[in-house]
Amino acid sequence: MTSGAVHQREIARNDVPSVIHTAAGLRRAVAAWRAAHPGDEIALVPTMGALHEGHLALVDRAHAVAGAVIVSIFVNPTQFAANEDFGDYPRTLGEDVHACGTRGVRWVFAPSAKEMYPPGDQTEVTVPTLAEGLCGTSRPHFFGGVARVVLKLLNIAGADFAVFGEKDYQQLQVIRRLAEDLHHPTRIVGAPTVRESDGLAMSSRNRYLTPEQRQVAPELFSALTQVSRQLACGDAEPAQAVHAARQRVTSAGMRVDYLHAVDAQTLAVLTDRPSPLGGSFRVVAAVWLGTTRLIDNVGPIHV
Ligand code: PAF
Repeated sequence: MTSGAVHQREIARNDVPSVIHTAAGLRRAVAAWRAAHPGDEIALVPTMGALHEGHLALVDRAHAVAGAVIVSIFVNPTQFAANEDFGDYPRTLGEDVHACGTRGVRWVFAPSAKEMYPPGDQTEVTVPTLAEGLCGTSRPHFFGGVARVVLKLLNIAGADFAVFGEKDYQQLQVIRRLAEDLHHPTRIVGAPTVRESDGLAMSSRNRYLTPEQRQVAPELFSALTQVSRQLACGDAEPAQAVHAARQRVTSAGMRVDYLHAVDAQTLAVLTDRPSPLGGSFRVVAAVWLGTTRLIDNVGPIHV
């Protein structure tokens, strides 16, 4: 089956996926599948678990391009700083495996930290310019850790596609750059952000929000949407639209880490109005709501 083909094969939902803990085990399973299904393609969905509907939409996107899907579940220590929530990050493997089964995932790859970072591991991977600024300013260790683990996962899985959410827009751009620069054969696919009915982007960290914080959290998406509309319609200068959005989320009780309109490819902050002839931009933000950091972004909205 080739990329983009409509997959006629019934996806076996509610089958329990094979849970594999070692790189060698995953390689063997993938090789056996390829031998038995010549021409069929495989997609990888890298996650840190605590799966929600946003992750499962990535699985659906993976099924749209490939005949078999691997979900990796690994809370990657190298992308957390010492003061961050690595220890508290939700770990729900049993529930995650069950959720994967309901969406026809064939393999769950759940390695240990020692499997991913064997003793003596020291190779670093950097994508310096794209990883600078935005999340890279307040989390300088983050993209190095992401690039390192994603390259390992791509190499271990040997999949034809890997699917990442647009919610982590800077991460997606870093991974696209990495795969292109290193001539990685796995094609990187971006999938749209899945939102709650009130607009809040789905995230494993939303479970940290108190009921009061959860009520105000969608204000972030509304503010970004407003900036996007203003820029897409040429109604405001980027600085003016962004300033109003910052005031809006601050009044809602959020502390802004960053909020910018950026070029969609380079992530450089826009100083001029985007071209009405299709200048592509993204309005991106990270805010603190109490002790929870929320990130979100939207592309041009023409209404
Ligand atoms: O987006 C995530 O969940 C993680 O950053 C990723 C890509 C799985 C790497 O650990």
